Amino acid sequence: MEKLVIEGGLPLNGTIAVSGSKNAALPILFASILLDAPLTFHNVPRLRDIRTTNALLRVLGCDAEFTGETGNSVNVVPGALQPEAPYDLVKTMRASVLVLGPLLARLGQAKVALPGGCAIGARPVEQHTKALEKMGATFELDSGYIVGHCKKLHGADITFDFPTVGGTEHLIMAAALAEGETILRNTAKEPEIKDLANFLNACGAKISGHGTDTIHIHGVAALRGKEYSIMPDRIEAGTFLAAAAITGGECLIEGCPVEELTAVMAKMGEMGITLEPCDQGVRVRRNGTLRGVDMTTSPYPGFPTDMQAQIMTLMTLAEGSSTVEETIFENRFMHVPELSRMGADIRLAGSRAVIRGVKHLTGAPVMASDLRASASLVIAGLAAQGTTHVQRIYHLDRGYEHIEEKLEKVGARIRRMQENA
Ligand code: EPZ
Repeated sequence: MEKLVIEGGLPLNGTIAVSGSKNAALPILFASILLDAPLTFHNVPRLRDIRTTNALLRVLGCDAEFTGETGNSVNVVPGALQPEAPYDLVKTMRASVLVLGPLLARLGQAKVALPGGCAIGARPVEQHTKALEKMGATFELDSGYIVGHCKKLHGADITFDFPTVGGTEHLIMAAALAEGETILRNTAKEPEIKDLANFLNACGAKISGHGTDTIHIHGVAALRGKEYSIMPDRIEAGTFLAAAAITGGECLIEGCPVEELTAVMAKMGEMGITLEPCDQGVRVRRNGTLRGVDMTTSPYPGFPTDMQAQIMTLMTLAEGSSTVEETIFENRFMHVPELSRMGADIRLAGSRAVIRGVKHLTGAPVMASDLRASASLVIAGLAAQGTTHVQRIYHLDRGYEHIEEKLEKVGARIRRMQENA
C-alpha cells in the first residue's frame, strides 16, 4: 500500500486545475447501458472509481475504456448486454447499484450484488428499489444479490422519503426508456444530477425539472449516441480552496464551478478567507487568522457533506470555537481521531463536533479511512509543523486525480511512497 509524505508549513501559491466531476461521471457512464449506440465522454477524471466503472461496464457488455494512456476521454461501444454485476466489482464501489435500473430498462432483468456499507455508513438502497417497484419491477434477495425482473418499466408518480442523490439519478435513468411519464418528487438537486439529465436529453431523452425537487421524465423508445463533456468537480475544487487557505498562500483554482459552490464559499468567507471569482475560476487567499464558525451539512444547495471533513480541518486552526453538525451520514467523523493525533482539539457528541482552535497542528503518521477524510488529512499535513505520513491513500485515489502533482506544482513538499519505505 502507498502513503503520501508531506512536509508542512509551506504556503501554496499558483494555479491548480480542477478535473472532471467523479460524482457526475459515474452515473453518466452507467447511463451508457441505456443506449445501443457508441458514446464518447470528455473531461473524465482518471480515478480508481472510474476504472472500476469501466471494468463493470465491460463485464455487462459495454466496451468502456479511456482512449489513451493519459487523456481524459472515454469511449463506450455497446455490445450484447448481460444482466449480472458481480460482487467483486460492486463491493469496491457502491455506486455500482445504479446499473440495476438501466439493466431492467434494457433487458427486463438484472442481478446486482447488494452494495455493502462503507466507512461512512450503512448506505442502504431501499429508496431505489421501492421506486423501481412502483415502475413495475419485482426484486428478491438471493445470496447477497438483488435479483430484479420486469416486463417493461412503466411510468409512475414517485415521492422519495428524502432527497437521495443516487436514488434520483437511478430513477431518472430507469424512467428515460420506460413507457409513459414518470414524476419524481422530493428529489435531490445536486448539480451532478443536472449533468446526468443534460447528457440524457442530449441523447434524446425527455427530462425536465432537474435541479428542482420535482422531475418529469417522458419515456422514449431509444436514445442516440453523443459526445459529452463532464462538468468540473465542485468537491475537488472546494478541497483545493481549503488547502490554499489553510497554508496562507494565494492560488487560482482554475475551472472552479462558482455557482455550484456558493454554500462552501459563503462559509469560508465567514472564516475570513477571501474568494474572488474570475473568468478562469476562483482566486483564494487568507486574510490573517481564521475565525471559528458553525456549519451544518444539508442537501444541495446547502453545505455539502462531501466538504465537511475538509472545512473541519480549517476549523482546527481557527480562532475560537466552531461546530459541525453532520446530518447526511451516520458515521462521517472518521477523520476526527486522526486530526486529534496531529494536535487538533475536537469533541464529538453523536452527529455533532465541537472544534476549539489550536495554535498549530503537528505532523504525524495518520490513517486515511474514506475518500473525504483522506483529503482532510492531506490538508492538515500541508498546514502542520513537521512531517505527516498519510497512509492507505487508495481511499484518496478514488476521488482525486494526480493530487500530489497538482499540490507540488504550487509549492507543496509532498511525495508518494510505499508504506513500508
Ligand atoms: C452521493 O451518494 C455521493 N456519491 C456521495 O459522495 C455524497 O456524499 C452523497 O451523494 C450525498 O451528497 C456519488 O455521487 C457517487 P444519498 P449517495 O443517496 O447517492 C441514505 C463522495 O465522497 N440513504 O443522497 O449514496 C444514505 O445512507 C461520496 O464523493 C438511505 O437510507 O447519497 C445516506 O445516509 C460519499 N436509503 C443518505 O441517505 C437509500 O435508499 C444520503 O444518501 C439511499 C440513501
